[in-house]
Amino acid sequence: ISLKEYNTFGIDAKAKFFCEINSIAELKQALELKGYPNLFILGGGSNMLITKNLENLVLHINLKGIEVVSENSEEAIIKVSAGENWHNMVLWTLDRDYGGLENLSLIPGNTGTAPIQNIGAYGVELKDTFVCCEAMEIATRKLRTFTRDECQFGYRDSYFKNKGLGKYIITSVSFKLTKRNHQLHVDYGAIVSELQHNGITNPGIKDVSNAVIAIRKSKLPDPRELGNSGSFFKNPVVDRPQFDNFSRLNPTAPFYKVSENEFKIPAGWLIEQCGYKGKRFGDAGVHKNQALVLVNYGNASGADIIELAEKIIESVSQKFGITISPEVNIIK
Ligand code: EPU
Repeated sequence: ISLKEYNTFGIDAKAKFFCEINSIAELKQALELKGYPNLFILGGGSNMLITKNLENLVLHINLKGIEVVSENSEEAIIKVSAGENWHNMVLWTLDRDYGGLENLSLIPGNTGTAPIQNIGAYGVELKDTFVCCEAMEIATRKLRTFTRDECQFGYRDSYFKNKGLGKYIITSVSFKLTKRNHQLHVDYGAIVSELQHNGITNPGIKDVSNAVIAIRKSKLPDPRELGNSGSFFKNPVVDRPQFDNFSRLNPTAPFYKVSENEFKIPAGWLIEQCGYKGKRFGDAGVHKNQALVLVNYGNASGADIIELAEKIIESVSQKFGITISPEVNIIK
């Protein structure tokens, strides 16, 4: 079958073996199938670039359900099955006035894949509300729980991208959310302006969510209209000497201080300075409103996108001496 509808980049690659997983029992069964090639686990397909037809056994994780597992007057812990769409789940929490996920509104993809790269936006990361996740170990077909510490979250990083790579399939994720005294994160410039613009002086979690939705819609293309995988690159982190040198040469460049010795520089800014913003090469391009996002105008192949990405990496390296690297998983 074609995977075009299963990846937000809209790459028309084919899968030879495809299996939709609707329950834990089905997942076990699929992992017990004999004589199939390596597995390929597909969630929302929102953070990957497929560069070839897949010979693997593709398992599309479609586990559904959201439940409140415990609550008191202050907090609720919810458990969300891996196949739940992330944004629909966030809206579900906001409908119940549960706080904590509002800054992560409108992020594409499914809940089960969110921990793998510790999704983040507007000053909040998944790890801030994460309690634990359940995952099936592929080798033993046993379910186990990972605590937050065990997940080893970092910037767009976790255990599942490192030591745990290819060993587990996440089946559910649990979050601890506030029921009152919501802690708002509205220090991010774009959120401040959006709230001001709407005349909101005393925002609630729904207002923050609406502001984030408006900002994302204005900068990030809707994958249903224009294929993309959100930020294609990570923002590079450089050390103090490299940063001092960089900021002397580029005094107006934006940056975030990560620690005393580490500075994050927006890759979108670097790419824009290299003249790529809004550029199109055949059906592969750089988004006009956010240079960190590569887009597929229709029939770009994975290889076309890679070629453009490599051109960009080379230019940024030449101009700034900084190496940027992909944030999306490239399936080779
Ligand atoms: N900028 C430019 N030109 C551009 C894009 C950005 O000059 O084309 C500058 C902006 O003016 C701003 C700075 O770069 O000063 C940062 O831009 P922005 O706030 O848009 O965020 P970002 O660093 O480009 C990161 C995340 C996004 C997340 C936003 C908001 C990464 C790789 N990306 O982008 O995450 O939504 O912050 O928090 O960390 C994603 O991971 O898919 C994603 C969209």
